[in-house]
Amino acid sequence: MIELDAVTKTRGDHVALRELSLEVAEGELLALVGGSGSGKTTTLELVNRLLEPDSGVVRLGGRDVREREPAELRRTIGYVFQGVGLFPHLSVGRNVGITCELLGWERSRIEARVVELLEAMALDPELAKALPTALSGGQRQRVGVARALAAEPAVMLFDEPFGAVDPPTRDRLQQLIEERKGSFTGLFVTHDLAEALRLGDRVAVLHEGELQQVATPDELLANPATDAVRAFVEVGRAAAARFGSGP
Ligand SMILES: Nc1ncnc2c1ncn2[C@@H]1O[C@H](COP(=O)(O)OP(=O)(O)O)[C@@H](O)[C@H]1O
Ligand SMILES: [Mg+2]
Repeated sequence: MIELDAVTKTRGDHVALRELSLEVAEGELLALVGGSGSGKTTTLELVNRLLEPDSGVVRLGGRDVREREPAELRRTIGYVFQGVGLFPHLSVGRNVGITCELLGWERSRIEARVVELLEAMALDPELAKALPTALSGGQRQRVGVARALAAEPAVMLFDEPFGAVDPPTRDRLQQLIEERKGSFTGLFVTHDLAEALRLGDRVAVLHEGELQQVATPDELLANPATDAVRAFVEVGRAAAARFGSGP
């Protein structure tokens, strides 16, 4: 469903991704992990054509994304941005319903969908009238997820969506994603190993723009393929031991 085929992308004088090949099967959620600057966000931006590869091909459903008109393509992809990125001057309700608006849904259908999604994210539907600034960080994250899910996209991209929320809220948000697994094909970027192991059907590890390993959570823990994966797993385990949870 999502396919990157030998994609290389240079940013500035730096190779952000080198010959990256990755496939996400229909209905699969692939967790993409790696340290800061390893190319995770770049990978997502290539999928929805915020960036173009220097070489290689990105396909969705077998079709080269370059054949698609960017705005049309993006309406079919749910994207939860790193740092949320809600429109500050739009109400929470319009933020959630914006893609449905762009797709020309009728107003009553959008309003019903907004209420449904806010409730699904354990948010009071009354918040639809508020501006994003009136919400807590955790509430804003949920609105970001609700917005991405609104038009029931077949493809979802998550960029460290729960990076800035407290552990109990994070647990609840992870559960909300878990409950929806299988209803979309997705890439879930995180630097948190425990989150990747919990949510990913498989986990892909990037290190300095190079793919190290793609494996199920169990395989990854049992057989790290490279030193970089081993280091990542060790750091994740140490953090989990300190906080008393995770792998
Ligand atoms: N707008 C940009 N201009 C130049 N270089 C960038 C830009 N965005 C990211 N990079 C570089 O590309 C590399 C990968 O970045 P990114 O994909 O954001 O990594 P990650 O999301 O894993 O932290 C990094 O070396 C980063 O410095
Ligand atoms: Mg990033």
